[in-house]
Amino acid sequence: MGADLAAAGEEVYRSRGCNVCHTVSGQSSIGPTWKGIYGQEVQLDDGRTVTVDEAYLERSIREPDAERVEGFSATMPRLDLSDAEVASVIAYIRSLR
Ligand code: HEC
Repeated sequence: MGADLAAAGEEVYRSRGCNVCHTVSGQSSIGPTWKGIYGQEVQLDDGRTVTVDEAYLERSIREPDAERVEGFSATMPRLDLSDAEVASVIAYIRSLR
């Protein structure tokens, strides 16, 4: 089931345009790459460090203004994904080791 969910998340990544700003190759572009971020610490521009877990990813997607990753000038747009889309994208990001 995890693999199916991740595959659905890959579809969301493309169809909802996340791929315009996020790569899965390790190379950051407008936004941070998604490769290998799960379980890592990320530095926010307010000085805090947070661990990338499910709660953080869900917050980043649903309330992109709440936290900003340090070093990125753009803020992520709010993209109103369904609960199922959010869950699948999180599974996809987790699968990108
Ligand atoms: C117009 C560009 C753009 C698009 C489109 C976009 N993002 Fe982002 N995203 C960003 C930027 C810039 C950041 C870093 C700044 C911030 O945290 O707001 C970010 C941060 C994130 C983070 C936190 C990543 C980290 O390393 O901490 C997640 C998760 C995320 N985006 C998910 C998504 C998803 C899911 C989609 C598609 C539904 C999406 N983004 C579409 C620009 C974008």
